[in-house]
Amino acid sequence: MSFQLLFSFFLPVKPFTYLCRKISYPACERNRSFILNVLQEYFNPSQNGHVLEIGSGTGQHISYFANFFPHLKFQPSEYDEYLFNSIEAYAQEVPTKNVRKPVKIDITTDSKTWNLETKLFDYMLNINMMHISPYNCTTRLFQNASEVLKPGGMMITYGPYAHNGIIEPQSNIDFDKGLRRQNPEWGLRDINDLQEIAEAVGMRLVKKHDLPANNKCLIWLKPANE
Ligand SMILES: C[S@@+](CC[C@H](N)C(=O)[O-])C[C@H]1O[C@@H](n2cnc3c(N)ncnc32)[C@H](O)[C@@H]1O
Repeated sequence: MSFQLLFSFFLPVKPFTYLCRKISYPACERNRSFILNVLQEYFNPSQNGHVLEIGSGTGQHISYFANFFPHLKFQPSEYDEYLFNSIEAYAQEVPTKNVRKPVKIDITTDSKTWNLETKLFDYMLNINMMHISPYNCTTRLFQNASEVLKPGGMMITYGPYAHNGIIEPQSNIDFDKGLRRQNPEWGLRDINDLQEIAEAVGMRLVKKHDLPANNKCLIWLKPANE
């Protein structure tokens, strides 16, 4: 029996994750290369810049991406501080050393209160958060993105979405129902609603990418000042 398995019988989940560092979500391993392909279309690989991730989770995504963009500095953030150890453990293994220490960000708070070294970002990432958090996390995500992105900056969001009031296929309908049973404030967000939210804060959807497992990457632009 492994050390991890043995001790997991005696410790509750959260304290255990404080001790054992890297946590692995299998979904991240499956989707990260598809998301990377999209990032490679939008992130300028030769220009210096800053990327902020909201809801970094285990830190698997950000550390995987960072290695492909050595000129960019990646700032992970999390609402749940118990994940910081895992985020840092992945970051330490990145050969390009361009992942900063995680900061606590509750997306529903005012971005001016966030403890960030960098104040303006070229890119933002938000993966699998909108449907697994209350709706005000989504509205505040766009509000805050419009404040911390540079003019011309982009936010890339990933997850399953509804579109024109329709959720497809059946597996996403079932997933949505399951989420709402768990928490009535959760559930798949409709791209039309997201466009309205984005436009209200001066941002716009520039592209939808269909990705495997019925997920999408959505590219949101904060237009450059005219
Ligand atoms: C399903 S996890 C996704 C984590 C990671 N991005 C991934 O794909 O593995 C949902 C994430 O949303 C974050 N989240 C929930 N409420 C939040 C809030 N109010 N502010 C910021 N992040 C929040 C959670 O902490 C968690 O990291």
